[in-house]
Amino acid sequence: MKLKRKDVLGLQDLSAEEINLILDTAEPMKEILAREIKKVPTLRGRSVITLFYEPSTRTRTSFELAAKYLSADTASISVAASSVQKGESLRDTAKTIEVMGADVIIIRHSVSGAPHFLARTVNARVINAGDGAHEHPTQALLDMFTIKEKKGRFAGLKVAILGDITHSRVARSNIWGLTKLGAEVRVVGPPTLMPPFIQDLGVKVFYRCEEGLEDVDVINVLRIQLERQQKGLFPSIREYTRLFGLDEKKLRYAKPDVLVLHPGPVNRGIEISPEVQDGPHAAINEQVTNGVAVRMALLYLLMSGGEVNEIAS
Ligand code: CP
Repeated sequence: MKLKRKDVLGLQDLSAEEINLILDTAEPMKEILAREIKKVPTLRGRSVITLFYEPSTRTRTSFELAAKYLSADTASISVAASSVQKGESLRDTAKTIEVMGADVIIIRHSVSGAPHFLARTVNARVINAGDGAHEHPTQALLDMFTIKEKKGRFAGLKVAILGDITHSRVARSNIWGLTKLGAEVRVVGPPTLMPPFIQDLGVKVFYRCEEGLEDVDVINVLRIQLERQQKGLFPSIREYTRLFGLDEKKLRYAKPDVLVLHPGPVNRGIEISPEVQDGPHAAINEQVTNGVAVRMALLYLLMSGGEVNEIAS
């Protein structure tokens, strides 16, 4: 099977078969990462450009490394130091990048739908690296790859997404992806950080950790987006941590072998205690490594259109 689409904009519009194809393709990519020489010629002559209107450490760097490990040429546009500061529009910026020969543009933007606009505007392929509070598809794919590695399946798994659901593009992409592959998804958090009608996406809603984390196989802890909390959506950070911060006591509500994920960056000691963050249940660093493998898979599938067994030759 091949990925027959121009762009990857979200998990809402990827089929279960496409998600499985990306996860399966990430497995041989992870094997390449374990080699001493982490480089294959698969995408030689192709160009990948990252265009980030918001800060990033993991997503941007892992896309760049993923492209380099596949021998593609890369360039990175730092919006703060670009002609965007002189008033150049998103459309004109993207067209400029395209006529330099970009095969893929990877965009992060604060406005939901910006990657979709770009995908309609340019002939280059577009990958969404996070748009507003809408979707962060490659984060969800790497979360799912990590779950598959650790648990071996999705069907029947209980996955809790804990925290600020309203502002989280990671939550939305995980909900789309996990429900398509048969997991039971719960969202857990304070009512003020829970969007209306979220249950319409096929999730169960909980406002108390005692109930929401009971007997779950996976807890995906979301970052409290301190930059978006000016509206006073919870009384204080200390109160949030007491009620919803994942610590060893709350971890005991879950299954004994619960897997703990966090997309990063972590507010250490706020949404997750240092003991849990650094403890045996957490796979936060493995998520980052898996992010490179998943992004290699995506670039490979979009640009080569080839079969999985051609990757490493
Ligand atoms: N998880 C995530 O998107 O991290 P960055 O903001 O560092 O890319």
